[in-house]
Amino acid sequence: MNTRIAEELLRRDAPFADYQHNLGSRTDAQAEASALQAGARVGVSRPHESAELHVSGSATYCDDIAELAGTLHCALGLSPIAAGRLLDSDLAAVRAMPGVVRVFTAADIPGENNCGSVLHDDPILCDGEIRYLGQPVFAVVAETREQARRAAALARTVLKTEAAEPVLTPRQAHEKQQYVVAPMHLTRSSSGLDEAGIRAAIEKAPHRLSGSLDVGGQEQFYLEGQISYALPKEGGGMHIHCSTQHPSEMQFLVAHALGIQAHAVLVECRRMGGGFGGKESQSAQFACIAAIAARTLNRPVKLRLDRDDDFMVTGRRHGFWYEYDVGYDDEGRVLGVALQMVSHAGHSADLSAAVMTRAICHFDNAYWLPEVAMHGFCARTNTQSNTAFRGFGGPQGAVCMEYILDSIARNLGKDALAVRRANFYGKGERNVTPYRQTVQDNILDEIVGQLEASSDYAARRKEVAGFNASSPVLKKGLALTPVKFGISFNVKHLNQAGALVHVYLDGSILVNHGGTEMGQGLNTKVAQVVAHELGVNFERVRMSATDTSKVANTSATAASTGSDLNGKAAQDAARRIRERLAANVAQRHGGKSGDVRFANDKVFAAGKELDFSAVVADAYLDRVQLWSDGFYATPGLSWDAKTMTGHPFYYYAYGAAVSEVVVDTLTGEWKLLRADLLHDVGQSLNPAVDIGQIEGGFIQGMGWMTMEELVWHPRSGMLMTHAPSTYKIPTANDCPPVFNVQLFEGRNVQDAIHRSKAVGEPPLLLPFSVFFAIRDAVSAVGGHQHNPPLPVPATSEAILRAITAVQAA
Ligand code: MTE
Ligand code: HPA
Ligand code: MOS
Repeated sequence: MNTRIAEELLRRDAPFADYQHNLGSRTDAQAEASALQAGARVGVSRPHESAELHVSGSATYCDDIAELAGTLHCALGLSPIAAGRLLDSDLAAVRAMPGVVRVFTAADIPGENNCGSVLHDDPILCDGEIRYLGQPVFAVVAETREQARRAAALARTVLKTEAAEPVLTPRQAHEKQQYVVAPMHLTRSSSGLDEAGIRAAIEKAPHRLSGSLDVGGQEQFYLEGQISYALPKEGGGMHIHCSTQHPSEMQFLVAHALGIQAHAVLVECRRMGGGFGGKESQSAQFACIAAIAARTLNRPVKLRLDRDDDFMVTGRRHGFWYEYDVGYDDEGRVLGVALQMVSHAGHSADLSAAVMTRAICHFDNAYWLPEVAMHGFCARTNTQSNTAFRGFGGPQGAVCMEYILDSIARNLGKDALAVRRANFYGKGERNVTPYRQTVQDNILDEIVGQLEASSDYAARRKEVAGFNASSPVLKKGLALTPVKFGISFNVKHLNQAGALVHVYLDGSILVNHGGTEMGQGLNTKVAQVVAHELGVNFERVRMSATDTSKVANTSATAASTGSDLNGKAAQDAARRIRERLAANVAQRHGGKSGDVRFANDKVFAAGKELDFSAVVADAYLDRVQLWSDGFYATPGLSWDAKTMTGHPFYYYAYGAAVSEVVVDTLTGEWKLLRADLLHDVGQSLNPAVDIGQIEGGFIQGMGWMTMEELVWHPRSGMLMTHAPSTYKIPTANDCPPVFNVQLFEGRNVQDAIHRSKAVGEPPLLLPFSVFFAIRDAVSAVGGHQHNPPLPVPATSEAILRAITAVQAA
């Protein structure tokens, strides 16, 4: 069973009792009891709101929706070359295939042939210019999915093309200065230097380190692939069931593609079988194609990608290539950095600009950098267009800084933890980020100190050294890495959300909000918030599908902000209803409305204890509005894209991890022996769900750092690793036998929902510790005298190459 499966299952069907013993001190019986006493429904561990449906196989994913009579199925004909022009195609041969109803090309699109989320540079179907191998050129609609797929497979022979030389690597693109968006620059000097001055300061520093690093991309590998089911409605309307993190954007892009107004398009998503960023923008192409076919044929059309097609058509995490030049002192303190980052954007812009912006804003990770000059380039290549993936450039920014500090420590013969500490952001000074936001909630010392003690770091460092001294073939490695992760969309206007709460006459409650459920437990948390606000049992609250006809103009569920934004919006809606109920209770029973208490499924007023449902029924008779909208916009954010400065993050989430590995230096194979994670979620809304996110994020990030490798054929540009046979993600077997996961005891200094913190993405950076533990083990081969040149992913082959390099040095 692979880990993403494991994570989905944990979210859905973890044997709950087993799960709870692992929850740490925040959820001891005492805390839970006092929370319940106060009528609180937040802060307690609860199973996922759909857990029973998940385990019984009755949760409805898009492909499980009962098909309407007349439903047709769609499959895509993909470009067999990476670059060039489409000359002609013998589509008659495709049309002649059994069951084929219609073949669509770009010419059949009634509106705009574009599904680009930010720039309009993403054709839905090939417009003549071939951009990558795997690009959808035509869409076949047939009576069955099998028939559609067989006909679409003719693409290889029926498409007549003129091939051009593809640009396949970020290096090639950078040489040609071929980018999807303008390069980005951020220079910041605490002593007022310009870039030349910063470079001079680096040269004058006591020590200098320059080098380069390659970091690969990563496939989202959601369990449920991309899918859309489009149902034509009367009067030109369109209803689409879409597995998407961004229903509103699907609505707008489908409207453009059909040439109709947004009000005629309804996009609905009850849940995804995982998104991980891969359905933030890239669900659009399939929603548009299904809608175009459904509109034209006036029949329901379903488009569900095969796993291989999903790999071939859609993008993933951006690979990065870095060149750094660093000056540092005898303690390992960084005095100045000049950095060039080139990301592998692929054929179009997609979200690459925002991803690079986040990479630049996360390069500092946990460290104060007095002088820094950063340059980011988003390389345009003839490959799939890369997109959001958990962390959204943050991991790519921070990993380079960690690589630098790890290298500095080895050069100085110091423990890497000491060097990391020497560079931590301070409190009251050394606390301004390169983009000039002040770090006001710094808990790095506390979190790292606590983890260092609980993981027995110092003693195990000695044990590892002892082991290595007497073990010529197997080498152990140990590393502790911290995380600081800025929370908010880095595009200010996206930080808003809406909700709609209905209280029905029987006292049951239906909640709708703009966020989407992808397994992360957002609906569970929002239901807890609403139950808490109205002082009712969790079981009264039901979550409905995300639906663009209920809450308009929503943002993607992304940037880990789902519960921050939608939790607050739903709280706002629930509070309005509660205040109306309280006023009505006071009027009926006496006393002040401010004194009416809602707790334990009861309402307390004027010395009486009333049933919540009776209060609701009374309010109805008194003609009180029993439903409400709610809205939230994150306060205090600002960003100047030109200077790359401002206050882009509402707050930071922190964490740290210690990993211990053993490496077989003859084969490059390795095993994670133990991992200790301490992560900050503020005051947790649901410790069980949060721990699940931390475990899942850790293992998923470990896959990226160590085993998931993307290989494009160097001449044809064909993605060779387009299925689990060749693309290896972690399995349950890769989980460490000792896996200690704790929540850091604390609360958000900002007024985030119930003082919690976002948890979706930050834990993905915790497995940096696995990578640096491997690097530590490899460097033990050379007595820690040399910095092993280890790329990400540190596959067994890469580890062997690094060992060879260390031995030759
Ligand atoms: N967890 C599960 N089980 N499935 C997912 O697809 N996506 C991650 C994270 N955790 C994901 C997940 C990503 S990329 C983000 S941005 C957040 O969840 C989004 O949800 P949230 O904002 O509600 O945390
Ligand atoms: N995260 C995810 N998606 C986004 C972001 C972000 O920071 N900014 C714009 N889209
Ligand atoms: Mo998450 S990468 O912001 O969808």
